[in-house]
Amino acid sequence: MAGRRRECAVDRFDGPPIVWPDLPDKLRLRMSNETWHDLGPAETFKQRGLCEAGVGRLKLAITCKDGVFGAVSNVCNHAGGPLGQGRLDGEYLVCPWHNWKFHRRTGLGQPGNEAAAVPSHEVKVEHGRLLVRAEPASPRKQAPHVPHPLARPVARAGGPIRVAGISTTVMDRANPRYSTSEALLEVALACARDELGCETQLLRLSDLKFGACEGYYSKSAQACTWPCSITQFDPDDELTAVYEAFVHWADVVLVATPIRWGQASSLYFKMAERMNCVQNQITIRDRVLIRHKVAGFIITGGQDNIQGVAGQMLAFFSEIGFHLPQFPFVAHSRGWTAEDMEKNVAEVRQSEELREGARDLARRSATLARMLVDQATDEAKTARGGRKAHRLEVEKAQSDGVRRAIRRGQAVNCKLRVGRPG
Ligand code: FES
Repeated sequence: MAGRRRECAVDRFDGPPIVWPDLPDKLRLRMSNETWHDLGPAETFKQRGLCEAGVGRLKLAITCKDGVFGAVSNVCNHAGGPLGQGRLDGEYLVCPWHNWKFHRRTGLGQPGNEAAAVPSHEVKVEHGRLLVRAEPASPRKQAPHVPHPLARPVARAGGPIRVAGISTTVMDRANPRYSTSEALLEVALACARDELGCETQLLRLSDLKFGACEGYYSKSAQACTWPCSITQFDPDDELTAVYEAFVHWADVVLVATPIRWGQASSLYFKMAERMNCVQNQITIRDRVLIRHKVAGFIITGGQDNIQGVAGQMLAFFSEIGFHLPQFPFVAHSRGWTAEDMEKNVAEVRQSEELREGARDLARRSATLARMLVDQATDEAKTARGGRKAHRLEVEKAQSDGVRRAIRRGQAVNCKLRVGRPG
């Protein structure tokens, strides 16, 4: 290999991996497939055990176990996860995003799932250098796969306005107590059903078994999938009912929460974290799953911070795509100095005004939903400037300039170039 230009090196891959999950492997190759390519000192790869490497635009997961090298595509079949950043489980590579496994040398899926495979590549050691063929020795194969029902296209079925009530209070159903927020939610739903002719359903988060968000988004935005990764992999996850209501079934979502230590309930936040997959579709695919839908809120508590709780809920639900009616929440609390919670319950039980407030929230929400449904146009796009996770052109130009300067070997004070305030 002496005198031959090095075409790749493991250390070149310091940026985020590029993923081409939908392209045939042939299209990804931009170099001769006939030659062996020098990846670098074999000893380096041996010491690393598992790492990423590349030949031009082709990315590989290189392994060495018991002195035997393996090379497969770095791009996982599932959602493009970087296999070379995963871990080894025996002879199998475990994807760091959702734990799919592929044989580190053959690329075949784990036992029972051999119908799936990532491309494998020949490797050999010559003169202490690790060489690889860019042309795959075996192809990528996707196992037959039935999409999750939530993944179907979002299309409103005809019929009356549909109202989903989400009660987020924590409850021991075997020994139930009177929940002020849930009681008012039931009043609002009864109004929607009996007075407005809506279809309704009540979902109590306390009755649903669902796990907390496991932070796939923290690995990579691409790892946070729709439907939610947890929902796809755990058939017992019951948050499916809430996703179904939010994205597919409901025109109106009424969310009821108690105030706990100045915040919405813990179950509310557990649900909200799991909705990151809905928001993330906007960020990574420019795909808005929730359109022409309305959210209203019922907030009750013995102590205060109604405006703080409402502010969080309004921002969150509008950020995932819901519209808000005029006066989008009704609320009740007895204030900072009140500790007599039994009085709070008594007040809510006795207050016809609060019940009428809940009914009117249902009316405002259903009326707006009717208008939105009647005027719905599906293809509206929202300009991304100023929206979450949208990088401005001026920012890109600045960082491109910094990168170019670094490449030219100039000393660059990055803070100055990107405009340090003051
Ligand atoms: S398991 Fe690899 S991307 Fe999901």
